[in-house]
Amino acid sequence: MFQLLLLGAVVLGGYLFLTQTLFKRSRCRGNAAVAGKTVVITGGNTGIGKATALHLARRGARVILACRNRSKAETAIADIKQETGSSDVRYMQLDLASLRSVRHFAESFLKTESRLDLLINNAGLVADGRTEDGFGVQFGVNHLGHFLLTNLLLERLKEDGGGRVVTLSSMAYRWGHIDLEALAVNRHLGTGRYSWQFFQAYCSSKLCNVLFTHQLAKRLQGSNVTCYSVHPGVVRTELSRHVSLWQKVFIEPVARLLFLDPEAGAQTTLHCALQEGIEPLSGRYFSCCAAQEVGARARDDAVARKLWDISEKLCGLS
Ligand SMILES: NC(=O)c1ccc[n+]([C@@H]2O[C@H](COP(=O)([O-])OP(=O)(O)OC[C@H]3O[C@@H](n4cnc5c(N)ncnc54)[C@H](OP(=O)(O)O)[C@@H]3O)[C@@H](O)[C@H]2O)c1
Ligand SMILES: *[C@@H]1O[C@H](CO)[C@@H](O)[C@H](O)[C@H]1NC(C)=O
Ligand SMILES: *[C@@H]1O[C@H](CO)[C@@H](O)[C@H](O)[C@H]1NC(C)=O
Repeated sequence: MFQLLLLGAVVLGGYLFLTQTLFKRSRCRGNAAVAGKTVVITGGNTGIGKATALHLARRGARVILACRNRSKAETAIADIKQETGSSDVRYMQLDLASLRSVRHFAESFLKTESRLDLLINNAGLVADGRTEDGFGVQFGVNHLGHFLLTNLLLERLKEDGGGRVVTLSSMAYRWGHIDLEALAVNRHLGTGRYSWQFFQAYCSSKLCNVLFTHQLAKRLQGSNVTCYSVHPGVVRTELSRHVSLWQKVFIEPVARLLFLDPEAGAQTTLHCALQEGIEPLSGRYFSCCAAQEVGARARDDAVARKLWDISEKLCGLS
């Protein structure tokens, strides 16, 4: 009997501990007006991106879902319109695994949309393989595609003042590693045959997101545009769709018990998009709706600058 009580207490304590740490919740209190403003959300058709789109559409923003799959995006748009009553949600084709597609997206965006206030670099994946241009798919989609996209849209973001770039990173950045020399000579940044190798490459791409934001903030000094990187929490989405079946067996029960739902997972993104007064924190990394300290590797000026230069070369900007 006593042992049972003890076990119960330990399990409960463990659960409470986890809900206050790894699975902690927070709520965005920012309420900057977005009516009449335009938001681009990459990968807005599902998961955290869709929850973000829903919230911003409800508040009256013009929301553009930049997605690779038209039919999935149209389904999401129908849901968003129905749930929010907004009619101002639009799909535009974007495949971040193709630099040509990124350029094409930017071109048609600049031609058809007169303003841009929020760019939310949300799309991401955990997978193995290569992009159209031969980069490791996680480096290519999670970092390089967004790098090019942001650069091509930056002038439009600057035009109306107060623009923001929010880039989804992950706490997994901590296990990331950037081999600049390898990156300069081959485009494969960590693809591999074993799942830990592509997990490692995922972490590295998320470290790129933090360093990209760090460097972008420096380049934006003196403009009215600011930028932030985000760990959204551990969220129940389709992100693990490519992990193997036996890994899913372990993840699924924990996911059901502890993971945040996408609505809770969108709160830190929304905070960085809507909270007034955080402009002096431009370039910082946020989680639980607050700026957090990052490890030395994630705020290394020299590495951030070199990553920027190499990324420019790799996507043909310099
Ligand atoms: N879930 C978590 O616990 C967690 C934790 C830390 C960070 N994050 C980050 O949060 C972000 C959102 O992830 P999520 O959890 O919401 O995952 P998700 O449910 O898998 O959604 C990812 C989105 O990215 C899109 N995408 C993937 N490859 C793309 C490409 N080549 N071009 C355009 N769009 C592409 C997907 O489109 P399709 O539907 O067409 O595939 C989907 O819309 C990611 O950057 C992820 O790294 C998530
Ligand atoms: C788009 O998504 C639909 C629905 O999930 C799927 O059946 C279709 O194959 C996808 N199309 C492409 C081009 O990936
Ligand atoms: C930034 O915005 C403020 C207030 O809207 C404006 O006074 C200032 O000129 C803007 N600066 C730039 C560089 O656009």
